Amino acid sequence: MKKEERRIQASDLSPEDRVNALGDLRALIELSRRRGALEDIHGADPHLEVGALYELSLRDSYPPLLLFDELKGFGAGKRILMNARFSDIFTGEVSLDGLRKFRASRNKRAGIPPVVVSHGPVLENVQRDDDVDISIFPAAKWHEHDGGAYIGTEVLVIARDPDTGWTNIGTYRVQVQDKKTVSVFIEPGKHGSLIREKWWAQGKHCPMVVCVGQAPVLGMVAGTTLKYGECEFDAAGARLGKPVEVIEGELTGLPIPATAEIAFEGFMPPPSEETRPEGPFAEWPGYYATNAHPEPVVRIGRVYYRNDPILLGQPPAKPTFPGRQPSFAGMAALWDALENAGVPGVKGVWKPLGGGVRFVNVISIEQLFQGHAKMAGLVATGAGPGAYLGRITIVVDEDIDITNPAEVMWALATRWDPKTQTDIIDGCYSGYIDPVVSPEKRAANDITSSRIIIYAVKPWSWREQFPRVNTVEQSYSSAIEAKWKSKLNFLQT
Ligand SMILES: Cc1cc2nc3c(=O)[nH]c(=O)nc-3n(C[C@H](O)[C@H](O)[C@H](O)COP(=O)(O)O)c2cc1C
Repeated sequence: MKKEERRIQASDLSPEDRVNALGDLRALIELSRRRGALEDIHGADPHLEVGALYELSLRDSYPPLLLFDELKGFGAGKRILMNARFSDIFTGEVSLDGLRKFRASRNKRAGIPPVVVSHGPVLENVQRDDDVDISIFPAAKWHEHDGGAYIGTEVLVIARDPDTGWTNIGTYRVQVQDKKTVSVFIEPGKHGSLIREKWWAQGKHCPMVVCVGQAPVLGMVAGTTLKYGECEFDAAGARLGKPVEVIEGELTGLPIPATAEIAFEGFMPPPSEETRPEGPFAEWPGYYATNAHPEPVVRIGRVYYRNDPILLGQPPAKPTFPGRQPSFAGMAALWDALENAGVPGVKGVWKPLGGGVRFVNVISIEQLFQGHAKMAGLVATGAGPGAYLGRITIVVDEDIDITNPAEVMWALATRWDPKTQTDIIDGCYSGYIDPVVSPEKRAANDITSSRIIIYAVKPWSWREQFPRVNTVEQSYSSAIEAKWKSKLNFLQT
């Protein structure tokens, strides 16, 4: 089937089909299979082969879902699904207009809290205490130099603030340590890290749920920076227009999605009590920046899973692959943060391919007053969704098409005076996966790096004298195009 034929645009779907696909992994699979947007792959080896096939799929801008069954060593019915997060259905049209629509639909509803139910497919199979054995699931070794098998890549790590009762979900990688133990790598400052530290400060083990197969909407909200104190279950409910159904874990009482494919429950002791070597792991910036190092573990006391469970896989890959177009969620979150901080005139936020969801932020504004561009650049660099690993922020005028790298390059080349229109800020929020944090800084426990803010805008004070742009005026160009249409057929694709 040709690429164009298997693309499922969000706009091709009825609202009902869209909500079903977002809120139910198996509905997404059925829909994608029906539309030719899914490849069934039988007999692959979870040791490196699945990871390599996944990386090959990213050569396509709209990779199909990959559903692996009969994995080597696991037989039929223990499946891995990949590319669910980047399904075309959720991305929509990759344009600023597509992002505006995404933002509008995302922001139109207030959060809807989850509802607790007593039954759910996740309870079809339960392992308790001595019976716990997560080796029955096909955790893959994704990349050659990874330190082991990672069961959690597109994963929910659910924890509750012991003081406020706020439930947080974050996506943090989860490595198999043994049949009953996993390690979780959480960068400092992430909400899951702040919460577990509160439990440890009270002398307690942190209760945790790790869910490794679930509705796509949950993965989407878990991997996006929401406000501190905002619950991802509520955000997922808002996107679905109905509450997410959860059961309560037998040991921790934490919410577990009732339709989850596979979820574990247990407790994370403080590092002073137990750590295990974690990593190295091929990370999304495109490097192995973290060597094997000690990380806290979850001691698993319960495992819940559906019949024929599906493990979700979304391992990192170099952010230059066409299939790794940064998701709208990160761009929308940064745009919201700018507006919430009171920055007016924001016309667009974009993250170009190559910078992943973090490194490069491009912001277009309609300059309204002196210092406005600086306000936008500083807020984007410091705001929650922009701070962590937000290496380069470029502010441009509204006439620049920020989705076109050539336009952004042109703004840099022609409106940016490096000496007078640049801020460099040291000591900013970074993480262990940042390749430029030197071995010396790591040894000194200084996990920070610098930022550059580039104001590639017409300088406010002499903007009226800034040279006129050399391009045919839009309305005249359209009129001429209509008049000479028959001579311009070569422009049709
Ligand atoms: C597929 C995927 C894997 C991720 N892996 C990690 C990870 O291993 N550690 C980490 O700290 N953040 C990781 N992140 C980023 C966090 O999920 C993201 O920063 C999120 O906002 C964290 O939730 P929190 O804001 O509630 O802490 C990952 C994101 C995605 C989408």
